Amino acid sequence: MKGIVLAGGTGSRLYPLTLATSKQLLAVYDKPMLYYPLSVLMLAGIRDILIISNPDVVPQMRHLLGDGSRLGLNVSYAEQKEPRGIAEAFLIGASHIGHDRSALILGDNLFHGAGFYSLLQREARSGNGCTLFGYSVSDPERYGIAETDADGQLISISEKPLRPRSNQAITGLYFYDNDVVSIAAELRPSDRGELEITDVHQEYLRQRRAALVPLSRGYTWMDCGTHASLLAASQYVQVIQERQGVRVACLEEIALRMGFIDAETCYELGASMRQSDYGRYLTEIAFAHDEGRWKDC
Ligand code: DAU
Repeated sequence: MKGIVLAGGTGSRLYPLTLATSKQLLAVYDKPMLYYPLSVLMLAGIRDILIISNPDVVPQMRHLLGDGSRLGLNVSYAEQKEPRGIAEAFLIGASHIGHDRSALILGDNLFHGAGFYSLLQREARSGNGCTLFGYSVSDPERYGIAETDADGQLISISEKPLRPRSNQAITGLYFYDNDVVSIAAELRPSDRGELEITDVHQEYLRQRRAALVPLSRGYTWMDCGTHASLLAASQYVQVIQERQGVRVACLEEIALRMGFIDAETCYELGASMRQSDYGRYLTEIAFAHDEGRWKDC
């Protein structure tokens, strides 16, 4: 399965924070926002990852992550010249996807919760159609919304409806079979001039090949697109990390646990950042891994 992180857009709701840099490079507590969606793809076992962003931002992202090899990944980059819609990711990423299945995640989405690894592993294996992940929210008019029948089957999808038919938001994580590339290629821009991700899902729904996996309330899902949600995400990560002593979306730790890198590499990555708590954490978990003991998380 191939992964795509869509990390473009203007970030205009975060002005002036995003006048000189990209939203997805802003801090969510102790690490760049981009780490959070990347961690999700890695937990799903995906190592071939395309990051799509604005032409002026791609060099900064490349500076941050390089070719991904130090995390045992293969990271490549592509430009989206204008924010012409989320579904444009499949046109820009068509050659990256090739004949494979794909996972798309929005670069400002944060997911966390016990059991998420197993859920991702399970859903990444199921092959047909598209899989959307639902999350119960108090402000459904802000999101894509899913309606299901009594058996949990998806029956309707609507984008930011004025009168939502449910409070199940469709999160910014999506798994697809290879048809997504041809479906996206057939799309026409909407009234607001964008290739709408909802139109892709409508087509899968029409073919009865769209499924919704609800994330129960044991999970946390946030997007970080406003000043308030950005702060809330930072506070969430700080509270969890300080209380539990383990890190959220620590890419080196995930790479180690997933077997993408060995303990020695993790130690070296930590040592290169030993001035920070983050770096020292990496050296500690590398030792713990070598001794066969992990911190619980
Ligand atoms: O976060 C989940 C929601 O994301 C879903 O519930 C909605 O169905 C989906 O449309 C989307 O809604 P947003 O209002 O958050 O979409 P927005 O246009 O803000 O784009 C989401 C992210 O994708 C944002 O971080 C910027 C990036 N983006 C967006 C567009 C339209 C791009 O990189 N390129 C684009 O062309």
